[in-house]
Amino acid sequence: MRLPGNKLKHLKEFFFTELSELYDESEIEAMFQAAAEHYLDFNLSDLIQKAEENINQSDVLKLYDCAKDLKKQIPLQYILGTAWFYGLPFSVHPGVLIPRPETEELVDIIIQENETATYILDIGTGSGCIPVTLKKNIPQAEVFACDVSTEALTIALQNSQQNEAEVHFVEADVLNASEFAKKLDKPFDLIVSNPPYIIKSERDSLAAHVLDHEPHLALFVDGDDAIIFYKKIIDFCKNSLAPAGKLYVELNPLTAESVKAYARASGIFDEFDLLSDMSDAIRFFRGIRKQ
Ligand SMILES: C[S@@+](CC[C@H](N)C(=O)[O-])C[C@H]1O[C@@H](n2cnc3c(N)ncnc32)[C@H](O)[C@@H]1O
Repeated sequence: MRLPGNKLKHLKEFFFTELSELYDESEIEAMFQAAAEHYLDFNLSDLIQKAEENINQSDVLKLYDCAKDLKKQIPLQYILGTAWFYGLPFSVHPGVLIPRPETEELVDIIIQENETATYILDIGTGSGCIPVTLKKNIPQAEVFACDVSTEALTIALQNSQQNEAEVHFVEADVLNASEFAKKLDKPFDLIVSNPPYIIKSERDSLAAHVLDHEPHLALFVDGDDAIIFYKKIIDFCKNSLAPAGKLYVELNPLTAESVKAYARASGIFDEFDLLSDMSDAIRFFRGIRKQ
C-alpha cells in the first residue's frame, strides 16, 4: 500500500490499515504513539496538534518500515531496540527476552522488602533488567548476574553501563551445578531468578510475535522435568544463600505447586509462600532461609 501523503495523520492511517487484522484499535494506537515518540520525539499532545503537519521523508520511511515490521509480528521493542522496565530504558535485541510487566512486579516486591540487602544474585539475567533495576534502587548492594548466553550478557553489560548501575556479570550454566557454584561462590543474601519456564504443552498457545521472534533459550524448559531450573536454583541455595537470606523466583502457574513442594522438601526455608501477580495468577515464589 502507498501512503496517501506525508502528513502525520497519513502515517497513522497507514498503521491502522496495515495492522487492523492483527491487533485491536487500542494496541495499534499505543504502538503508533510509541513509534512516534521514538522516531519523532512527539508526545501525546504533539500527536493531536501536529496531525496535519508534513513529516520529513527520512522519518516517514522509519515509521513506514516500523508498520511493515509490526505486520510481520516482530515485537515493537525489537523494532525500536528499546524496552522500558521499572522506568528505565533497556536495549533489547532478538538475543534477549523482552522484559515483562510481571517481572517488574517481582522487582517491585523485592525493592520494597530488601532495602538493606548486601549481596544479590540474579540467575538467567537476559537483558539485565532485574540486576540493573535492583542496583539503582538498592544502591549499597553488590549485584551479580549470570546467564548461559554470551549474547545476553553483552546486551546486559551494555544496559548496566547505559543506566549507570554497576553489576558483575558472569557467564555460567545453572544446570551445571558444580561449575556454577565455583563461578558464583559467595553467600548471597538475596537470590532472584526468572528462569525459562514455558513447557512443551504450552507452545501452541503462544502468540506468533513471541514464538517466532523471542529466544527459545529464554522461553522454554527442555527435557521432561518442567521444574529443573527451580530445582537447581533451590539446590544452589543450600550452599550459597546466607542464613535469613531470601530467594525470589518468577513461576509458571502450572508448575508453581511443584516448585513449592520441592522448596518444602529441601528443608532450608523457614518461611515460604506463593504470590499472585496483578492478573491473579500464581506467579512468584518467596522463601526465607532459616537463621
Ligand atoms: C525468562 S528469561 C529471563 C530474562 C530476564 N531475567 C528477564 O526477566 O527479562 C530466562 C533467561 O535464562 C537464561 N538461561 C537459559 N538457560 C540457562 C542456563 N542453563 N543457565 C543460566 N541461564 C540460562 C536465558 O538465556 C534467559 O536470558
